Amino acid sequence: MGALRPPMPPIRTILLVLGLAVSAAAQDHQVLGPVLGAPEPDAVRIWMRVPPADGGEFSVLLRSGHGGLQRSAWIRTDPGRDHTAVARIDGLEPDTEYRYRVRLRGFADSDEATEQWHPIRTAPRPSAPARLRLAFGSCANRPGDQPVWDAIRAQTPDLFLSLGDLPYADTREPALLFARYRESRGDPRYLALAREVPTLAIWDDHDFGGNDMDGRVPGKEIALHAFRSYWPNPGSGGAEPNPRPGVWDTFRWGPIEIFLLDDQSFRNVPRKGVDLLGEQQRRWLERELTASNATIKLIASGGAFHDRPVAWRFLGLFPIVRRDTWWSYQDRDWLFGLLARHSITGVVLLAGDLHRHEVHRLDWKGGYPLYELISSPLRQNLRACVASAGSRQWCASKEGFALLDIEDSVTYSYWDSHGRRLHKPTTLHPFP
Ligand SMILES: [Fe+2]
Repeated sequence: MGALRPPMPPIRTILLVLGLAVSAAAQDHQVLGPVLGAPEPDAVRIWMRVPPADGGEFSVLLRSGHGGLQRSAWIRTDPGRDHTAVARIDGLEPDTEYRYRVRLRGFADSDEATEQWHPIRTAPRPSAPARLRLAFGSCANRPGDQPVWDAIRAQTPDLFLSLGDLPYADTREPALLFARYRESRGDPRYLALAREVPTLAIWDDHDFGGNDMDGRVPGKEIALHAFRSYWPNPGSGGAEPNPRPGVWDTFRWGPIEIFLLDDQSFRNVPRKGVDLLGEQQRRWLERELTASNATIKLIASGGAFHDRPVAWRFLGLFPIVRRDTWWSYQDRDWLFGLLARHSITGVVLLAGDLHRHEVHRLDWKGGYPLYELISSPLRQNLRACVASAGSRQWCASKEGFALLDIEDSVTYSYWDSHGRRLHKPTTLHPFP
């Protein structure tokens, strides 16, 4: 009898680690971007990664429809933020299209006639009527092989919202975490979308720390630092200093407001505490929701809101219920109670995480039907549409994304990663 072989020969382990290190080192020299961050009525944000070998600086040239040209100062990228930085250009007209391009320090200006200019748009004023075409989704693994970004770009949305697991980082080791972000951000199809469509983001477990982690995980501030370095969100992201200990935020587009929640940073173990959001975020959300005069309010979370979300069925019969969703926490009753008590109208819930797309009409005590639209995954393993809670109205197990057309009402449709529609456009009724 021969000796038992170890499951993985040491040489393979060495090569694997070496391979990761080599690929991380190669990425380290990548210039990435431009990526558009959250626009404001008078300002736009442009994110770049420029390492020192490429000058470590960039500037933005912005051209208005009247031919006026504006040049930003040189912006030095931050070595502490993996050589990234955000340019914020203000003094612009609301709801107006401009064109821009990015220059790197030390590279000569090319001929303006042949240089590619990209469209960039300011947000409408909160008081102005506006329509919004919003694409959203979550869970994108396998960078470099993500056709979904082309399918989203083909729909010409005004905004893309990521609800987490972008990237699947699964580490809080700073160098590896930044390598995962670089790898994800380097997908050429993603970059083609993100240089023309502004992106907002929140996170789920895999970009926060690892599968089904909770807020007790050590090193969560490293995950927050990486998130802020790579996502130019309205207040918490990009290079702007902000003491908020999480990724929650709001974004306004005319009469539409998006409430971006952080359901990772302060969550307790399910069933052992009330906390999904934490006291500071609850106070903030109550203040923002009760003060908002937006006619349509999208509340976005990584985890799902509906009752007893079934992950799968043991032997095809017995439901295995997921515990890492709002259903396991008292913050769910708190949020629905807040909406009902203050008669907060125009709310639609958005979520990701489930690795299948679902539409729910929730059972609640408010005065109008409350819908939850779930979109997942953009590019990741699928879970089957097993029988779920009674609130579910539709389900599809496909890679893809959701598209919302919002004006006075909300119309949703779901699309697969090759641009085929999975669901005919449906308008939410009644919608106060
Ligand atoms: Fe996921």
